Amino acid sequence: MAGRALLSSLRPYPLLAPRSSPLPLLLRRRCSSSSSAAPRVSSLPLGADPEGAKEPSKAPPFVLTTPLYYVNAPPHMGSAYTTIAADAIARFQRLLGKKVIFITGTDEHGEKIAAAAEASGNSPSEHCNTISHSYRLLWADLDIKYDKFIRTTSSRHEAVVKEFYSRVLNNGDIYRADYEGLYCINCEEYKDEKELLENKCCPMHLKPCVLRKEDNFFFALSKYQKKLEDLLLSNPDFVKPSFRLNEVQSWINGGLRDFSISRSSVDWGIPVPNDNKQTIYVWFDALLGYISALLENEESPSLQQAVNSGWPASLHLIGKDILRFHAVYWPAMLMSAGLTLPKMVFGHGFLTKDGMKMGKSLGNTLEPKDLVHRFGADAVRYFFLREVEFGNDGDYSEDRFINIVNAHLANTVGNLLNRTLGLLKKNCQSTLPFDSMAAAEGNPFKDTVEKLVEKARCHYENLSLSAACESVLEIGNAGNLYIDEHAPWSGFKQGGTSSEMAAKDLVIILEAMRIIAIALSPITPSLCWRIFSQLGFSEDQLGALTWSDTDWGRLRAGHIMPDPKPVFARIETEKEGGNDSNLKVVKNKKKVSRSEGLVEA
Ligand code: MSP
Repeated sequence: MAGRALLSSLRPYPLLAPRSSPLPLLLRRRCSSSSSAAPRVSSLPLGADPEGAKEPSKAPPFVLTTPLYYVNAPPHMGSAYTTIAADAIARFQRLLGKKVIFITGTDEHGEKIAAAAEASGNSPSEHCNTISHSYRLLWADLDIKYDKFIRTTSSRHEAVVKEFYSRVLNNGDIYRADYEGLYCINCEEYKDEKELLENKCCPMHLKPCVLRKEDNFFFALSKYQKKLEDLLLSNPDFVKPSFRLNEVQSWINGGLRDFSISRSSVDWGIPVPNDNKQTIYVWFDALLGYISALLENEESPSLQQAVNSGWPASLHLIGKDILRFHAVYWPAMLMSAGLTLPKMVFGHGFLTKDGMKMGKSLGNTLEPKDLVHRFGADAVRYFFLREVEFGNDGDYSEDRFINIVNAHLANTVGNLLNRTLGLLKKNCQSTLPFDSMAAAEGNPFKDTVEKLVEKARCHYENLSLSAACESVLEIGNAGNLYIDEHAPWSGFKQGGTSSEMAAKDLVIILEAMRIIAIALSPITPSLCWRIFSQLGFSEDQLGALTWSDTDWGRLRAGHIMPDPKPVFARIETEKEGGNDSNLKVVKNKKKVSRSEGLVEA
């Protein structure tokens, strides 16, 4: 409870006017200088009418995409990784008050998918329906809040692809020629023999490439060599992280070759408008999903309509294996069609198992569904975003997973909240005796929190998701240190001013917890909702939050907190066997109670 009415009726202290940030402007500007910097929305007290803060702005939307996933097999942890990261970024941008269009979807055409359908004994469209649905189910399990889900087999997408193809054709950038080369079906790409391993094996999939000879339509990529060089020189932020820019520049500087954009041997695809015997190359088709996804349901599908609904994308998030398609082919295709380029392509690293890319083709995947069912969505999201520096590769180990999640979420955050609420209940009848602003007057702890939350904001803006987690967790560490050093439990025993100081300490920690709950909400949304609810706020109040609510000073005297309940249960492990030298760690099968949102230990 403790909604709006409580905030205004029980307040024994005068209402503190909404404040602007106490941090030096310089720091804010420095952090805000990236292209994703957002205007700060006004500081409203919690529970205040959020309409002003969330009023749809006239600014262009923040359009964020994940790759459209191949439906040759159900999703694995590698595919989930990009989507979790995208969801965290989308949630952060929404907190900044932006209109976000978060696009994901499935890439359903091509030889690889047709072969997978055949192997499963289903028609291609039945197969695509099943696998595409499994992606949606996983996204629901992982708390992914996307705005658009595009399937490349939809007729609306097909209309956009054909129109785009015709534009490029009319621009003189498509021609017909024979091609002979080595093809990797898993990459859906002709390979340069120099890139291959022994026995003509693809270095990514470790499977032999097949020799193909086809009469194809080609896209005149080489025509765009100079324009692409100029693009990267004038806009180095186009490819991030910067070490991937070097890679892209070296491909371009090495000389660009035209690439084939049709297949005569593949039926499962969109027919080429000027030759129905061929189908459009799956990449030329799928990339257009980023635009066709923007169509509103009621619109008749046209390229221009889709473009008008939010193009260009602000950010394409992709894995490093598909960088060439996004940072070389795609901008050239868009240039040819006379369309604006996306603002940024970010190529993250791989989740690996034993040093090898985790993947459907290699069969060394980790089941995200199992992880979520055992440990809950928050734990999975937190571990991968905190542990893997966004941009680099990262290896998974279950022991590390359990250690990190227990130490950070159960101990640093969960226990701190629980024991503070316990003390508040015991000593203050669960009612805040001070405004958090008054409680922290002259207290350097407040400055520490303000600096850390500002650091977190900068890291989010720079897509440094691991560092953002770290900064927020540092608030928790500082809070634990503070409470241990100040020992409010003994202050309450002493009574008098010591008791007053102890009460202030509790308010200070709870204010820090409130700030943690907002700042960590892009990463662990359900956990943060549980923290918020433990702090006595309603779901509506949570929905109305913006990043400016991380400003110190929103908790008011008289606010009542509910009885403490754990917000995140530790993952328990059992040791099997009595012999220490032969210890085997067996993880309990955890059942996630989604209604409670808690992992039952
Ligand atoms: N269908 C294409 C993308 C077309 S976008 C217009 C495709 N699909 S995919 O399913 O094979 O891969 C989708 C994404 O998952 C890629 O960004 C890829 O890098 C990512 N991952 C697949 N395995 C991965 C890991 N083991 N680790 C991290 N990401 C990985 O490519």
